[in-house]
Amino acid sequence: MGVVAVIGAGVMGEALLSGLLRGDRMGDTFVVADKRQDRLAELHDRYGVEAATNEEATRVADVVVLVVKPQDIFAVADAISAELKPDALVVSLAAGVTTASLEARLPVGTPVVRVMPNTPALVDQGMSAVSPGAHCDAEHVAMAVRLMTCVGKVVEVPETQQDAVTAISGSGPAYIFYTVEAMIEAGVGLGLPRRLATELTLQTVYGAATMLRETGEHPVVLRENVTSPAGTMAAALRILEDHKVRAAFLAALEAARNRPVASGLPATRIPQRRREISFPSSHRMTSTSAGTAAISH
Ligand SMILES: NC(=O)c1ccc[n+]([C@@H]2O[C@H](COP(=O)([O-])OP(=O)(O)OC[C@H]3O[C@@H](n4cnc5c(N)ncnc54)[C@H](OP(=O)(O)O)[C@@H]3O)[C@@H](O)[C@H]2O)c1
Repeated sequence: MGVVAVIGAGVMGEALLSGLLRGDRMGDTFVVADKRQDRLAELHDRYGVEAATNEEATRVADVVVLVVKPQDIFAVADAISAELKPDALVVSLAAGVTTASLEARLPVGTPVVRVMPNTPALVDQGMSAVSPGAHCDAEHVAMAVRLMTCVGKVVEVPETQQDAVTAISGSGPAYIFYTVEAMIEAGVGLGLPRRLATELTLQTVYGAATMLRETGEHPVVLRENVTSPAGTMAAALRILEDHKVRAAFLAALEAARNRPVASGLPATRIPQRRREISFPSSHRMTSTSAGTAAISH
């Protein structure tokens, strides 16, 4: 890849940077930029990585990775546009920001790849979906795939599917955390010590995910294998169906899919509509104009 500049050293920027530095560097070098000097000093101390301004980093970079919030990305694109090397690849991790909107702010013909990562990238178990813009060739896509592989799995999807990807894997960890939280609370309600309820739940989620991956079986098959007629699982599943949990998931993910369209806009321009989705507990999951999924108590 050559010189890789990571612009935006927040949660996702650091996850990516640390994965890149731990991975097979194959002669690549890295530089990081952020508007916060204290953050750059922290990353320099932690990883020994060179820090620079957005413009300085862009000037030397073969790959410029934009890891700022969607509302900041156009200002960054405008600031670095004149500094880009002629063949530089721009990779954007900003949710809901199209390649076309970035291409329009960069020199004509600039290759832009859009990526939707997720937070398990922090533990090298991320799921990223990459989509090439209008000026990308196979090598640009391969570079973006190589970049994101350092923090997990990567798939290529058409850009038209990116909002759905955001709803499934981009926001997905939050749904799992929510489910885990509910199971732990249920365990405590059934009389288990919290620590034990937590351990039982975490290992169950980890084991079930591993089983799905390693057997390659459809979840329905795995579920039916452990659901004996009139047994405990059947009783529990009946309650979940009665409370329309499946329907709630469909509605919640649809709300998340619809949300990224507005995420590149300043907050004041996002309409303040709120729609409630029925959910079986004292908690309520609501779709709000301020985020893909919000949970209220
Ligand atoms: N975290 C996730 O789970 C996740 C998942 C999928 C996609 N993403 C995408 O990843 C991107 C980054 O998210 P994040 O959670 O890492 O955000 P974050 O923690 O807020 O990091 C963004 C960093 O960029 C800095 N920044 C803002 N404006 C800048 C500018 N003009 N020049 C240089 N640096 C600037 C911010 O500084 P200040 O804090 O001072 O503003 C902050 O340090 C977003 O576009 C998001 O859509 C994140």
